[in-house]
Amino acid sequence: MSEPLLIGQSMVGGYGAANILNGCTISVQRGEIAVIVGPNGAGKSTAMKAMFGMMSLRSGSVMLNGQDITALSPQDRVPLGMAFVPQTHNIFTSMTVQENLEMGAFLRRDNIHATLEMVYYLFPVLATKRHQPAGELSGGQRQQVAVGRALMTEPRVLMLDEPTAGVSPIVMDELFDRIVEIARTGISIMMVEQNARQALEIAHRGYVLVQGENRFTDTGAALMADPDVRRSFLGG
Ligand SMILES: Nc1ncnc2c1ncn2[C@@H]1O[C@H](COP(=O)(O)OP(=O)(O)O)[C@@H](O)[C@H]1O
Ligand SMILES: [Mg+2]
Repeated sequence: MSEPLLIGQSMVGGYGAANILNGCTISVQRGEIAVIVGPNGAGKSTAMKAMFGMMSLRSGSVMLNGQDITALSPQDRVPLGMAFVPQTHNIFTSMTVQENLEMGAFLRRDNIHATLEMVYYLFPVLATKRHQPAGELSGGQRQQVAVGRALMTEPRVLMLDEPTAGVSPIVMDELFDRIVEIARTGISIMMVEQNARQALEIAHRGYVLVQGENRFTDTGAALMADPDVRRSFLGG
C-alpha cells in the first residue's frame, strides 16, 4: 500500500487523566473513503479531533502527506489541506447559506467563484436558498451547508463526524452519493458514521473502534462480510 494521505498513528490521549484513545491507528489514502464505526463513547469523535489538532496526544503521531503535523494547531492544518465538519454546531445559523460558504473560504486569497459554483452544483438546493439564513434550512440541508463550507477551503482531506445524523434515509442516501462524488474528484474522505452498513458500503477502508482501539480494520466490503463484525456491530 502506498503512503496514506492522512494517518493518525498509535494515538493515545484523552481529556483528563484517563485516556480515551488507547493506541488506535486510522488512515486514508488519496481519493479514498475511510469510515470509522463503533459503539457510542468508543472515541470516534475524539480520534477525529485528535487528527485535526483539537486535542493533543500523549503519544502517537499525525502525518499529512508525509509531513509530521502532530504539533500543529487546527488553524495551521487547514492551509495544509485539512477540513473538519464536527458532529454539532457546524454552521452559522444566523448567516445566509452563501455567507456560510464564503466564511469557509476566509483563508483563501484567490478567486473562490469556481469552488462556490462547484458546491452549488453538488448541492443544487443550496443555490436556490443561497440568501436564506442557514438556520431556516432542514437538517439535511444544514449538513449540506456544513460540508459545502468545508469544501470551500479546497481540502485534500475532508473529515466528517456523523454527517447523516438526524436525517431521513432518503436524505442520507443522497448525502452518501455526494460524498462518493466528492471522493471521485480526488479529495480523501475520513468519516465517522452511526449508519454503519450504509457507510461501509461506500468505504474503501473501514475501522471498528472500541474503547479507543482498533477492533477490526479492513476494506469496507470485508468488514460487511465478517460474521463477527456483523453480529456485534451491524445488527446481525
Ligand atoms: N470534551 C470532553 N471532555 C471530557 N470527556 C469527553 C469529552 N468529549 C468526550 N468525552 C468522553 O470521551 C469518551 C469518548 O467520546 P467520543 O469520542 O465523543 O465517542 P464517540 O464519538 O465514539 O461516541 C466518552 O466517554 C465521552 O464521555
Ligand atoms: Mg461522536
